[in-house]
This record gives sequence, structure tokens and C-alpha cells, in this order.
Amino acid sequence: MTDALVIETPADQETPAWWRQAVVYQIYPRSFADANGDGLGDIPGILSRVDYLAELGVDAVWLSPFYPSALADGGYDVADYRDVDPRLGTLADFDAMVEALHARGIRVVVDIVPNHTSNLHAWFQEALAAGRGSAARDRYIFREGTGPDGSEPPTDWQSTFGGGAWERVEDGQWYFHHFAVEQPDLNWANPEVREDFLETLRFWSDRGVDGFRIDVAHMLTKDLADPLPSSVELEAIPRDGNHPLFDRDDVHEVYAEWRKVFNSYDPPRTAVAEAWVETPERRAKYASADGLGQAFNFDLLVADFDATQFRTLITVNLAEALVTGSSTTWVLSNHDVTRHATRYGLPPLAGRRVKQGTEWVAAGGPEDQLDREGGLRRARAATLLLLGLPGSTYLYQGEELGLHEVAAITAEQRQDPAFFRGGAFDGLGRDGCRVPLPWTADGASFGFGSAGSHLPQPAWFAEYAVDAEASDPASTLSFYRRALALRHELQTGETLEWLETGREDVLRFVRPNGWQVVTNFGTEPFALDADTGAVVLSSGADAEASVPGETTVWIAPTA
Ligand code: GLC
Repeated sequence: MTDALVIETPADQETPAWWRQAVVYQIYPRSFADANGDGLGDIPGILSRVDYLAELGVDAVWLSPFYPSALADGGYDVADYRDVDPRLGTLADFDAMVEALHARGIRVVVDIVPNHTSNLHAWFQEALAAGRGSAARDRYIFREGTGPDGSEPPTDWQSTFGGGAWERVEDGQWYFHHFAVEQPDLNWANPEVREDFLETLRFWSDRGVDGFRIDVAHMLTKDLADPLPSSVELEAIPRDGNHPLFDRDDVHEVYAEWRKVFNSYDPPRTAVAEAWVETPERRAKYASADGLGQAFNFDLLVADFDATQFRTLITVNLAEALVTGSSTTWVLSNHDVTRHATRYGLPPLAGRRVKQGTEWVAAGGPEDQLDREGGLRRARAATLLLLGLPGSTYLYQGEELGLHEVAAITAEQRQDPAFFRGGAFDGLGRDGCRVPLPWTADGASFGFGSAGSHLPQPAWFAEYAVDAEASDPASTLSFYRRALALRHELQTGETLEWLETGREDVLRFVRPNGWQVVTNFGTEPFALDADTGAVVLSSGADAEASVPGETTVWIAPTA
């Protein structure tokens, strides 16, 4: 793996290649910081915390949607792509936030949701009013139903969140929605749809945005020629570029057009695809320099805390990056999955709802089965390993505090459509990782805002509050700050070489400048040889002569 050294990433990040080994911090704006005390996080809230982000040491932030939205899917139901939700601020607030972040050397990535709009988007309202066969309906996917009076949906397809994928409108036609009913899919064969998104990309690029995260980038184009397959038939069709719904080759024509827009800016705007596809080869298409340029690699996010799985997935993804010329991306947590400290602290299936026949049943309560300390210990070890890898790393707000998933949310308090439609995400939905951050151990909503918080914060949040952790050198926050600062100093070429450890549960690699990373996935300490360089950071207890169980250390290059 050392034979092809791709690109030296400059430490100052001041080049068009800044993104290649960047640490990108995901902000879920409605749960980050609430400046106006309405219980919803907002853009002025982010602005008030830019020094926190600078001190944390991130290279960029990615903002989940902050656009006008009825919040049928946490903002991924966008009613207007070129504005700010009035509850979150104004475009002027947005500009001020970008300026403040840029002044601190932090880039800004925004989320683009091109597969579907909100049902409240002007286009969809127009489509409803205009009726069958209209140009307005052609921007979406409308069909006649089946059965004698058309009262049956066009197909038996299921939506990603559970339930049927077609919804009937007043005049009897049906529209297609991959996700919630409030998220009608756009018709990407329609030139007006294509043109409008180019305008949206220019709109945000002109406002100084540095890059884009593309929501479900593998779903946009579709082939819905009759006869439509049944869901059983659909399942059997290989996802090799010609599937009617997923990962079609023709989606890359869209991204080739987008790339022209990105490259018309100096420096070129970047993009990262959220593309859940079958193979690294399929993913590579999204990461192509003629397309979006980078694609999320979610492999470790779905892996166990296990040395063999980590080693295999790291090797595969670095090899893939060599082929595409892009850099790989590492992710352990985001707004769609159970936080990794909790994943690593729960016995398999505990705290999730599982389907037994047609019923969802609880497989155990996380609060009583969660090994809080063990989960966090393993999470810190995995994070420090990740931050030592070549490529860019995406962090999710709150993981730097060591936050666990919040389980104590009643059905009435939940917001995620996936919970109500009983579909994906273990049936529990994704609210548990979207609870507003604790900034202070005391005070209203733990310093999130002056009033309440839109999802309930548990009492144990006090222990994880920013102010409590900032002054504690052993806290997870102090650990993240040291790791990110050191990463800047140690950053080097985009390769690694595995070193033999003689143990299946210990991984060790060295970067081109001699920076070593050792992760002990097991419980027995791993002895370091006497001539190993100095341990400069440990994810757990101090380590000198040996690496304790479930711990990662970084060893500085010897001069
Ligand atoms: C992506 C987002 C998720 C959203 C879905 C529909 O997977 O990450 O939060 O629900 O797309 O937009």
C-alpha cells in the first residue's frame, strides 16, 4: 500500500485540495444551539459557537438542512432550496455565519436534497392544482392507479421509512415517494428540474459555500417505463447501473453537469455523495473527479468494533481511493444512526425494536443494558484510529462530548417519520442522536437555549456538558481537541503501511512520515517494543510501555 503516494496534503489546508484529508464536523442545525429561545437550534446559535468549533480544531462544518421546511423529516423535506427557515434565521444570518467560520479557517459545506422536495414546495402545490397531464405534474412522478377504479397504487413498492411508496391525491392520481408522504420524488428526466438545481448550486456557491453534501445521491434518476415490476421483482433486479430505482448509471450525467458548475468557481466547490451502493466499484463512480469528487464510505459505521473487520474495510477503501484518485471518507456517527459510543456499548439488538412476524417488539431497554463506560472507551479508541487514517473524517455533533444515544423519548415526543412508519433504522427511529447538545451542566435546556429543547434532554446530559468537559483534561472533549490539533501537525501523504503485531486483535500501521497508530481491540495489554517512539496520545489510560485493552495510541515519528 505504500507504493503509490497520491497527494501530499498541505498542513495549512489553503489549497483547492483542502478537502482531501479534512476533518468535517456535521452540525444538525435544529439541535446545535438555540439563540432565540424557541427550542429549535438556529443559525445565530451556530454563529455564537464558532469559537468552540475553532477550538475543537475542525477544518470544515457540514450543515444538515436549514431551509424552510415543515420538518416532516427533520428538514430533509425542503420547501425552498434558496432560503433559510425563518425559525432558524435569515440569509443575512447565514452570510454572517459563513464569514465568521471562514475568518477562523473553517470551510462550510451545505446539504443538498435533490431526490425529493417537501409537499409544501411551490412546485408540488402547483402540481396538485394543475392536475393530470400538466407540465407541473411532470416535475414529479405521477401515475394512474391500478384496479377497476384506479384506487390501488401503481405498484406494491414500500417506502424507505416503511409503508407504501405511492400516495393518492384528490383527483385520483398517485405520486411516488421514496421516503415520507411529505417528500414527493422529483422527476430527474425533466430539464426544468435539472436547471433549477444548477441554480441552487450557484446560489450557495455565490454566497461563499465551499462544498455540498448530496443527499441520497444514488436515487435521483429512475426508469419507470411500463410494465412496472412488483416489489418482489424489484428486489431481484441487480443494482448494477440499470435498476429502475437505485444507483443508475445515468445519474452520473446529472453530476457531470454539476461538476461544471463546481469547477467554474475558484477554488472549485467540492461535493460528497451520500450513496448507499452495493460495491466499492459502484461507489467509485460518485467519487470520480468528473462527478461529485468524493463519496461517503459507511463501511465502518456498520461494522463491529473488531480488528479484522476494521483492517479489511480500511484496506479495501484505501485501494478504492487509489483507483478513483479521490480520498476516502471515514464516518462512525451521523444523524441517521445510533451514536457509536452506544453501538459499542450494547449487546447485539438490545435497545432496538425488532420485527417478529408483523409486530415490532422491543428487544431490551438500552438504559439498563448499556455499558456506558465500555461503549465510550471503545468509541474513543475507534475514533482515534479513524483520525490517524489517510483521507477525510466526518464527525457528528456531540460525539466530541462522548454523548450516548438518548433512549428516553416517548412515542409522543418522537419526530422521526421512520419511527411512525415503523420502517428503517431498527424501528426506533433516529431521534435519539438528534437531541439538542448540552453546553452547560446547569440552566435551562443545558445551555442549548433559554427555553426548552425540541427533543427531551436526559438528566445525565449534565455530565457531558461542554462547560463540564472543557476544564477536565481527561474528558472526551479534551481528548478530541488534542487529537485534532496533533493530527494537523502530523498530517502526511495519503497512504499507510500495516505493521505486524503478532495479535489478531491488535492493528498497527505507519504513515509515510513515521506517524504510527496502534489499536488494541482486545482486552489484554499489548506491549510496545523498547525502541518504539514516544506515545503522544492515548484514547484511554496513559500508555507508555504498553497499549491497554480497547485503546488506541498515536506514536510520533522519530526525528
Ligand atoms: C438521507 C438523510 C436522511 C433523510 C433521507 C431522506 O438518508 O441522511 O436523514 O431522512 O436522506 O432525505
